[in-house]
Amino acid sequence: MPRKSLKNIQQMKAKNIGISCLTAYDASFASILDKLGIDIILVGDSLGEVVKGDKSTHNVIQDEMIYHTKSVKKGIKNAYLISDMVIDTYKTKKEALHHALQLINCGANMIKIESTLDHLSIIKFLVSKNIKVCGHIGIRPQYKKKNTPYKKVGITNESKILIMNEALAIEKSGASLLITECIGSDLAKTISQKLSIPVIGIGSGNNCDGQILVLYDLLGISYNGVPKFINNDIFKNSDIKTKIKKYINKTKNKHKF
Ligand code: KIV
Repeated sequence: MPRKSLKNIQQMKAKNIGISCLTAYDASFASILDKLGIDIILVGDSLGEVVKGDKSTHNVIQDEMIYHTKSVKKGIKNAYLISDMVIDTYKTKKEALHHALQLINCGANMIKIESTLDHLSIIKFLVSKNIKVCGHIGIRPQYKKKNTPYKKVGITNESKILIMNEALAIEKSGASLLITECIGSDLAKTISQKLSIPVIGIGSGNNCDGQILVLYDLLGISYNGVPKFINNDIFKNSDIKTKIKKYINKTKNKHKF
């Protein structure tokens, strides 16, 4: 299996081949995903929720992103690696460049920024420094207020226009990929058709150029529960849980395993 490049991923959009993406936070899972042929692995700041057990991504720090990016990189031979810029690491151009370079130096091929229209100049600046950037619109967990539920956005006309404008502006700023989180599926479809860069959806319907999920949600083992849009039985039945349960039972009963 050849190493995935950004060009391969762009070609997949052109050929209408779906782009598969999952998060990973450690070398073992990264290696499983890689060997099974995943196109993109994201070291997401969702690690705050699923690895650290926090209620949000707000407390993830740059040192943790460096640690997890280095671990995931070790498990990858072919997949394209994206690493998240955590909250407060891209407030100024100088800070954004410093933190992005740290992640690139750990092996990330691209960095992701939860992007509003306020971040366009940061994206442009990073791109001018040869850093590949993935935008992230719709629900932006870094800016979500405490205890507000994950609710689809881009449903009213006003919010559809705002999100479409954000998508177009992020592409114009030089981003190479865009993630849309929990937006209406019609809007996600239109954005995927209008943009020339690949659009990867999460909870945004089936008509994006690719899909991404938090790995632990897919496996049904996320500490804080699994989002509503993961409602398929294949997601609920977890081989991992069955194995652990069997191990515990066998150990308790002093059976060999
Ligand atoms: O942090 C993360 O895992 C993400 C995905 C949900 C897209 O941003």
